[in-house]
Amino acid sequence: MIIAIDGPIGSGKKGIALFLARHFSLPHLSSGLLYRAVAFQLMQIEGDADSEADALAACDFDPLMLEEPELQAEYIGGLASRIAVHPRVRKTLFERQWRFAHRPGGCIMDGRDIGTAIAPDADAKLFLAADFDARLRRINRRYRMREDPLSIKEVAIDISLRDDRDTMREASPLRQAVDAVLLDTSHLDDEEANQAALRIVEGLL
Ligand code: C5P
Repeated sequence: MIIAIDGPIGSGKKGIALFLARHFSLPHLSSGLLYRAVAFQLMQIEGDADSEADALAACDFDPLMLEEPELQAEYIGGLASRIAVHPRVRKTLFERQWRFAHRPGGCIMDGRDIGTAIAPDADAKLFLAADFDARLRRINRRYRMREDPLSIKEVAIDISLRDDRDTMREASPLRQAVDAVLLDTSHLDDEEANQAALRIVEGLL
C-alpha cells in the first residue's frame, strides 16, 4: 500500500503523513528531507544553489545527514527549493525515492511530486491545499517554536518564493495528480485535518 501526499509548504503534509504512518503502521519518508540534505551538503562544499553542477555534486551526501535537526531550519528549506529546480538533481534523487515508495509492505511519502512522478501508481493520493494566511500562520508558529529569527513578513516572502519555484519549475512541478483527492486544510485544526485525511484514504483503499 502506497499513500502519496503532496502539497505546498504549510498545507499540513507532514503532520498528516506522520498521523497516517502511525495509524497504518507504515514507514514514512518526507521527500523534502532529501532536498534539504543536498542543500546542507551544498553549504559544506560552499557551492552555488543556482549552479546545477554544484547541486549535483552535493547529491553525494552522507545518509546519516538525514537525521540532522538542522535540516529543518528555514534557510535550508529555501536553499532546498532552489536546488530542487535542477532536473538532474531531481533525477539523481528519483531512484532513492522510487525504491522507498516501492518497498515491500508499502509506505507513506509526502512531498511535491509523489503522486505525479515518484509513485504515480500509489493506492491513495492526497493533495493538500490551504489559503495563504492559514499556511503563513502554520509556518510562522513552527519557526517561533524553533526560535527561528525570521519576522512574519520574511516568512511570507519565503512562502511566496518557494511556491513560485515549486509550481513554475519545468522538472516535475507541484501539481495535483488527476487521481488525487484534494483536501483543503485552511479551516481545520491538526486533529480535524488528520481525521479528514484518514476518511479520504480509507475511502480510496
Ligand atoms: O517539504 P520540505 O519543505 O521539506 O521541502 C523542501 C523543499 O524541497 C521544497 O520547498 C521543495 O522545493 C523541494 N521538494 C521538491 N520535491 C519534493 C519534496 C521537496 O521539490 N518531492
